[in-house]
Amino acid sequence: MMSKYSDIKNLFIDSVDSKNYIDLESLSFNYNVLEDSLDKPLKMILLFGRPGTGKSMTLNKLYQNLKDKREIHYFDAPILSEKEFLKSIYESISGKKIPQNMRVNFDGLLRFTQQLKGKREIIFLLDECQLYSEALMEKIRLLSDTRVVKFVITLHKTENEDVIAKEHFKTRIWEVIELKNASEEELEIYVQKKLLQKHFVDVANLIQAKHIKFIHTHTLGNFRETNKFLYTVFSIYEYYELNRPEKIPKGRFSRKILEMAAIKLGYIHD
Ligand SMILES: Nc1ncnc2c1ncn2[C@@H]1O[C@H](COP(=O)(O)OP(=O)(O)O)[C@@H](O)[C@H]1O
Ligand SMILES: [Mg+2]
Repeated sequence: MMSKYSDIKNLFIDSVDSKNYIDLESLSFNYNVLEDSLDKPLKMILLFGRPGTGKSMTLNKLYQNLKDKREIHYFDAPILSEKEFLKSIYESISGKKIPQNMRVNFDGLLRFTQQLKGKREIIFLLDECQLYSEALMEKIRLLSDTRVVKFVITLHKTENEDVIAKEHFKTRIWEVIELKNASEEELEIYVQKKLLQKHFVDVANLIQAKHIKFIHTHTLGNFRETNKFLYTVFSIYEYYELNRPEKIPKGRFSRKILEMAAIKLGYIHD
């Protein structure tokens, strides 16, 4: 048996696919700053923010929008082995595949890149840079010094990494774009647009400002947390529709189910 809530629930599974990108004012502001910064003489651009604020989604959108217009390469998952990383950079720039057992020498790569100066401008998008080693980040910086390659990198913001973001990168010319959690107003638009994109008009209509307020109190407007929360809410709806349909209130959204989801996720205790 299927419930319509199974489909609604699945809307809130995390996925980084800019086909499902939802435009919110602060996101599109930051997106435009990001895109414009590619035309400035910057070597590195940092997209910064707490986990779940939409960094990967923004990077994916940048790639989708520019891939037919610019020379741009997208590393959506970090390549942790230095050998594999340098190989991928070389292969992306040269357009040539290099054999499995061959190694790319960093100085050679640097010289190869330098000789392209004035001829090409290549953009690399690197997601999840908090996972790269210090040594590899230094190589990325040296590559960016050639001004042939420009890097857009994302970095998770955590309590103690704030320092890193300031000290460690200060010496290069940086644009720092910080993504933040959504405000209550933005969260409302996010939830409504997500439902309306797939034509769940009736459920969208039941969700009112007070419900959004409840969600925002617990998720603080973080997209990943909000997804998790609403996935749980609609799983409970799904369960009730299949097993206890009398438990689903008619004509209003169930506050009870919101509370059950909050308890289940440990946001509140019963
Ligand atoms: N603009 C957006 N439109 C639709 N969904 C989004 C948007 N931004 C974030 N999300 C959702 O939130 C989740 C977390 O966003 P993500 O970009 O992965 O955050 P981060 O990389 O900062 O940890 C994504 O999987 C996606 O489902
Ligand atoms: Mg991410």
